[in-house]
Amino acid sequence: MAKTHITELVLRDGHQSLIATRMRTEDMLPICPQLDQAGYWSLEVWGGATFDACLRYLKEDPWERLHQLRRALPNSRLQMLLRGQNLLGYRHYSDDVVSAFVERAAAGGIDVFRIFDALNDTRNLETAIRAVKATGKHAQGTICYTTSPVHDIGTFMDMARELERLGCDSIAIKDMAGLLTPMVAGELIRGLRQAVSIPLHLHMHATAGVAEMCQLKALENGCEHIDTAISSFAGGASHPPTESMVAALAGTDYDTGLDLNALQEIGFYFREVRKKYHQFESDFTGLDTRVQIYQVPGGMISNLYNQLREQGELGRMNEVLAEIPRVREDLGYPPLVTPTSQIVGTQAVMNVLTGARYKSITNEVKLYLQGRYGRAPGEVNAMLRQQAIGNEEVIDTRPADLLSRRRWTTCAARSASWRNRKKTC
Ligand code: CO
Repeated sequence: MAKTHITELVLRDGHQSLIATRMRTEDMLPICPQLDQAGYWSLEVWGGATFDACLRYLKEDPWERLHQLRRALPNSRLQMLLRGQNLLGYRHYSDDVVSAFVERAAAGGIDVFRIFDALNDTRNLETAIRAVKATGKHAQGTICYTTSPVHDIGTFMDMARELERLGCDSIAIKDMAGLLTPMVAGELIRGLRQAVSIPLHLHMHATAGVAEMCQLKALENGCEHIDTAISSFAGGASHPPTESMVAALAGTDYDTGLDLNALQEIGFYFREVRKKYHQFESDFTGLDTRVQIYQVPGGMISNLYNQLREQGELGRMNEVLAEIPRVREDLGYPPLVTPTSQIVGTQAVMNVLTGARYKSITNEVKLYLQGRYGRAPGEVNAMLRQQAIGNEEVIDTRPADLLSRRRWTTCAARSASWRNRKKTC
């Protein structure tokens, strides 16, 4: 009986972290029989940036990808990453859209919904959690891990209690930047274990080079689920390697039950696949201890790199990295994850390149300061808010309460009308 359960990330976060989410469905399907038989607790296959990348770059239908993976992985739990009220976009959708999307994703084959909000504002998670529960699928509430003067283990314990109260079946600790250190990971899991009785999952990026140690300490303190990526898509901005963790834990109280021999074929297959995507490899996906100083997730560093390169200002990278924590402080210490990572990152770039902080302020920062993404974890800089939005209203209600219902009633009805439209033209 396995004591440690593994979620395999190669089909979503692994390639999102290392090759800019470019892996095509045709490179996933041939190895699905082996993935399906490996004995993983779940396979993360959908959501996050994959939806966007399918539409924007790959000219693939993300729903068709889901249907194909569902057929190819009949025995596996399929998992997705959902941005709460943002679904897979960057702003809030109305509740009926959130419910309909979840219902369609469940019908399409998603079994486990990992649901997060960039501000850890649980009001932005409620609708999605309720929608998942209505489908009978697994609702996994997520704590975005970060460090700041307004975050400590107590605040994460409070959030965990709230997620359990909302009906979540499990809780994920999402350390998207890889900020955890081993002893803190142990302490955090001990606290959460005390706070709630539902299972705990640890999702952490290996950027800072300490993720395997963190996972071990988490397991020792009552976490039973860890996320890993097969070795050829592991390490650096990605995650601890599946095979290494399986080997490390084999024959111990934390055995994964996975067969190291069977995993070799999967690892080798993806080693060959990765070569096809070499043009999407970058200098910013390796080990990078700067996350411990600037708290900037690996994915965000590569975005900044592209923004600065386009403007011919690559030489100012270190200034931007130093500006990010200051912008984050002004905004009340949001965790840096989509969409707050883009909001903070873009403003920091402008603060550096225009030569004066907040000489120009993005619309997203203005919306943020109006409370339209949710409640900031700490106090925002009042002077900046005055400068950005003047006397415009600051809301303290749940942002989606201000959004009207859409005209259509369900996605199904909408897609039916699209199908009809296709037929007529
Ligand atoms: Co991740």
